[in-house]
Amino acid sequence: MESQTRRLRVKQVFASTAGESVEVRGWVATKNAIGGLVFAVVRDGTGYIQVSAKSGVAPPESMDSIRSATKESAVSVKGVVREDKRAPGGREISVSEFTVLSRAETWPITKTAAKSGSYLYDVRHLSIRSRKVAATMKIRNEVVGATFDYFREKGFTLISAPSFVQAAVEGGSTLFGVEYFGKKVYLSQSAQFYEEAALAALEKVWIYQPAFRAEKSRTPKHLTEFWMIEAEQAFADQPDNMALQEGLLSFITRRVVENRPDELKILGRTIVEPPVPFESISYDEVRDFAEKQEMPFEWGEDVPTEVERLISLAHERPFFITDYPLSARSFYHMTYPDRPNVTKSADLIAPEGFGELATGGQRIASYDLLMERIKSQDLPAEAFGWYLDLRKYGMPDHAGFGMGVERVTRWLAGLKHIRGASLFPRTTTRVSP
Ligand code: 4AD
Ligand code: MG
Repeated sequence: MESQTRRLRVKQVFASTAGESVEVRGWVATKNAIGGLVFAVVRDGTGYIQVSAKSGVAPPESMDSIRSATKESAVSVKGVVREDKRAPGGREISVSEFTVLSRAETWPITKTAAKSGSYLYDVRHLSIRSRKVAATMKIRNEVVGATFDYFREKGFTLISAPSFVQAAVEGGSTLFGVEYFGKKVYLSQSAQFYEEAALAALEKVWIYQPAFRAEKSRTPKHLTEFWMIEAEQAFADQPDNMALQEGLLSFITRRVVENRPDELKILGRTIVEPPVPFESISYDEVRDFAEKQEMPFEWGEDVPTEVERLISLAHERPFFITDYPLSARSFYHMTYPDRPNVTKSADLIAPEGFGELATGGQRIASYDLLMERIKSQDLPAEAFGWYLDLRKYGMPDHAGFGMGVERVTRWLAGLKHIRGASLFPRTTTRVSP
């Protein structure tokens, strides 16, 4: 009787018993023939494994199949798992049957072509089949998965919000306009206002969805479309909000460290779980730092990108910059009673030059105060109708934040540019593939 063949994924093959008959399906990563012996490395969604076919052992049709299998062809490999010190990972499959399921044409990404970063992004639909991209996406997957677990554990409800909106959350200059049945609407920059409405129904809410920014800045940390994690809680102040953020970031980091050591190794990255609480430095202290670096900036301006980068470089762990001037923040920010120009807000900054990961703050809960703010900033009150309305029907103190998924992934994976943290990045110069 023929022994049972188990269909396994590559990772399971490394955990299985040697001598077992298995089938693996995947793609041909590399291939090498030495006389009557053909070696291939086959990749699936879980890893890479060497397979070897020996003429005289494997049937002739299978020998023909493996010899004709081009790089990136989709294949089925049946055979016996063997221990082999020379094979990567110490195991290989000795082929008894090799079938090409879908033959690939000549792979266009040559070693020379791969030297051009922009070419690799032109053919991103193909170039994503690399160890580094897979490692980055698995880290990203941990970031998102850990976030779901963190908020569930803390009793937050995941909500949804529209992407077609009528009001700017983060200022008009980065809005994408869309034609909507003869009317001009925008793509959402942030779901914050919807969260603020939802908290009166659910108290603690969070959301995970795309955000759109017409950022003209071509920097290593800006995308035009990205995924944002946002959370908002009722009966909370800015210290509560900061505790929630640092808890989340250290939880995410622990998950990545524990679950993705192989992927971190592929990326050449070492990270450690940052202990809480994180260090806090004030905006005023950042100005002192900038002055010492001979890069002074006026009180009231946003922290210049280069200053943020330098102060981030000077840190080994994530930290907060607190107490931004109102002039550097959106209109909805709560200020200190004794310092009307200073907001109860903070940016969470990654170390090593990576910069901002999150922005959060306490919101104005009072109708009159918010209306006054909208007027003093010459904003169109009618555009904020329902947002203002919320303040008429029981709006307690509340605070929240937004954290960019690709920013966090970029930092954890140690990527030079944020585009690598997105499978199909959107930037000012790229909307394809
Ligand atoms: O700092 P931002 O603009 O804050 C807000 O949108 C708040 N309304 C969020 C809230 O309080 N609910 O964006 C939040 C985060 C940033 O810290 C950054 O991580 C990410 O979103 N982000 C971007 N990521 C990639 N490309 C861009 N262009 C980004 N703009 C913001
Ligand atoms: Mg920000």
